[in-house]
Amino acid sequence: MINVAIDGPAGAGKSTVARAAAAQLNYIYVDTGALYRAVGVYALRQGAETTNREQVTALLGDISVELKFVDGEQRVLLNSEDVSAEIRTPEASMAASNVSAIPEVRAFLFDLQRDIAKKNNCIMDGRDIGTVVLPDAQVKIFLTAAPEKRAKRRYDELIAKGSSVEYKDVLEDLIKRDYNDSHREVAPLKPAQDSVIVDTSDLDLQQSIEKVTQIIREKTI
Ligand code: DC
Repeated sequence: MINVAIDGPAGAGKSTVARAAAAQLNYIYVDTGALYRAVGVYALRQGAETTNREQVTALLGDISVELKFVDGEQRVLLNSEDVSAEIRTPEASMAASNVSAIPEVRAFLFDLQRDIAKKNNCIMDGRDIGTVVLPDAQVKIFLTAAPEKRAKRRYDELIAKGSSVEYKDVLEDLIKRDYNDSHREVAPLKPAQDSVIVDTSDLDLQQSIEKVTQIIREKTI
């Protein structure tokens, strides 16, 4: 199977770029952040402190997370309930970042990610795909962009969905998440040694998609 790992900070365009590249190449697209988000949402619903390792770990036995692919589109099931929309709120983002720093949560989600990659040609995006989950992936890309650019993209997305957020709050959240994600002890966000770094600060979406698709094609022929 061909496995492509795309890692990078929040808002670099990973999911949009990976989804489009997967459609062009006929691979499935796997958004692993959705798994951490589902665990985060469950912890929030239970009233747990999402930074509290013991509280969150105690919940894992009650959680089943599954990914389903409907017409190429990924849906996330939390105890059989489709939570694909609920996991996209700013609260869920922060909860996901918090629970993702807990080693037991990472271990809990590891096999699921590995199994999908074993059975499918896929582009998987996340933070530790090239470094930890799929260290043997044929292609590894680290997609990044300046924080202000990433925050502006996220802000535009949230506004388009009808949220009434402030740009400065989005930027602040993003900087906090970047810090959390790259400073945690387990599987911190960092480029794999053998990854190609793509900075999308000055690329529009179409250019980013073309660049990534081209890298994948070159490395898989
Ligand atoms: O990609 P995303 O914004 O949906 O991810 C949500 C959070 O999950 C992010 O802050 C860090 C965490 N995450 C992770 O630790 N490892 C991954 N492979 C994917 C996401």
